[in-house]
Amino acid sequence: MPDPIPLIQAKSLIRALHGEVHASPAFWFMRQAGRYLPEYRQTRAKAKDFISLCLDPELASEITLQPVRRFAMDGAILFADILLVPHALGQPVAFKEGEGPVLTPIADAAAIDNLKAAAGDALGRLQPVAETVRRVAADLPLDTALLGFAGAPWTVATYMVEGGTSRDFRLVKSFAYRDPRGFAGLIELLTEATIAYLSAQITAGAEAVQLFDSWAGILSETGFERWVIEPTRKIAAALKQRFPTVPVIGFPRGAGLLYERYAVETGVDVVSLDTAVPPGFARDRLQTRLAVQGNLDPVLLIVGGAALEVAVKELRSVLGHGPFVFNLGHGVLPQTPPENVAALARLLAEPLAAS
Ligand code: CP3
Repeated sequence: MPDPIPLIQAKSLIRALHGEVHASPAFWFMRQAGRYLPEYRQTRAKAKDFISLCLDPELASEITLQPVRRFAMDGAILFADILLVPHALGQPVAFKEGEGPVLTPIADAAAIDNLKAAAGDALGRLQPVAETVRRVAADLPLDTALLGFAGAPWTVATYMVEGGTSRDFRLVKSFAYRDPRGFAGLIELLTEATIAYLSAQITAGAEAVQLFDSWAGILSETGFERWVIEPTRKIAAALKQRFPTVPVIGFPRGAGLLYERYAVETGVDVVSLDTAVPPGFARDRLQTRLAVQGNLDPVLLIVGGAALEVAVKELRSVLGHGPFVFNLGHGVLPQTPPENVAALARLLAEPLAAS
C-alpha cells in the first residue's frame, strides 16, 4: 500500500476534513451544480433525460466543474444522483418535470430477490460515473478537492419502496415494521452496493466521500439505530479498511438529538449539519470529537444582502474556531441568484477575526 500523503501537502478541504482549523474556512455547497446556473440548464438540454445526463461522462464532468469555475469552491462534488444505485440494480427510475423522481415501487421480499439477482452487474452499469470522476480529477484546479457521494441505504430505500418522494413514509415504515428481516435484506443489498460504488469512485480519484441520509430524521430511535447507524457504520468501516486516509462525511439530515449518537457510533470522520442543528450544540457536543460541516439556511442564499452577511458571521463565530467546513444545511435551491453565491464566496475568503 502507498504511504499516506503527508497532510501538509494535501488540499485545504482535505486538511479541514481531517480536523485542521483554518482562519477562513474551506467551503463547498451541497447541490452547487444545478438549475440555478444557466450553464447547467444549457448542458442539461443536451441529454435526453436526467439519468442519461448523469451517465454521460462528458456532460457530467462539465457540470461538476461549472460552479468551481465561477466561485472557486474548495471542493467539487461529482455530478450524479443518489438514485443511480436503484437504477443500476434494475429498478426503473424516471425524473418527471416538476414532479421529482418516479420509481416502480418495491413492495415485498420477492421484489428484493429480483434486485439481488441483478446486483452482480450493478457496478458495471455505474462505470460511466467512475469515468466522470477520472475526467474531473484530471481537470481540477490544484487546490480543489473532488468529493464523491452516494445516498445512504435508508434514504435510498425510502425512494425505492415509496416509488418517489413521500410525505409520511407510510409504505417504507410499514415494510420495516411488518417484515424487518425482509427489509434488512434491502438495506444489506444497498449497503454492499454503496461500498462497491464509493470504492470505485475513490479508486477513480474521489478524495473524500459524503453519504447523504436525507430522510434520517423521520425514524424513531430504534429505527435510527438499525436503519441509519448500523449500515453507515458498515460502510464507513469497509471504506476505512480499504482507504484509511480518505475522509467520510455523513449527513443524517433531521437527526436532531440523535446527531450525537450518529457522530460517535458510525465511525464517520465528519458530520454534516442540517439547518436546524444549533451551532452551539454542534460546537460543544460534536466538534469536540470530529470536524463538522454546515449549516447555513439555503434560503439565505436566495435572500442575500445583510441577512446573509449577518448569518455567515454568526455561524463562523461559533464554529470557525474548531474543525469546520462551511456548507449549507441542505442543497442550493433553484431560485438562488448566482451573484449571492459569489458574494458568499467573497465573505468566506475574509479571515475570521480573533475573539
Ligand atoms: O450536489 C451536487 O451538486 C451534486 C449532484 C447531486 C444531485 N443530487 C443532482 C441533482 C447530489 C449530491 C444529489 C443528491 C440527492 N439526490 C439527494 C440527497 C440530497 C438532498 O437533496 O437531500 C436526493 C434526496 C436526491 C434525489 C433527487 N434527485 C430528487 C428528490 C430530485 C428531484 C428534486 C429536484 O431538486 O429536482 C433529484 C433531481 C436532481 N438531482 C437535480 C440535480 C441537479 C435536478 C434535476 C433537474 O435538472 O431537473
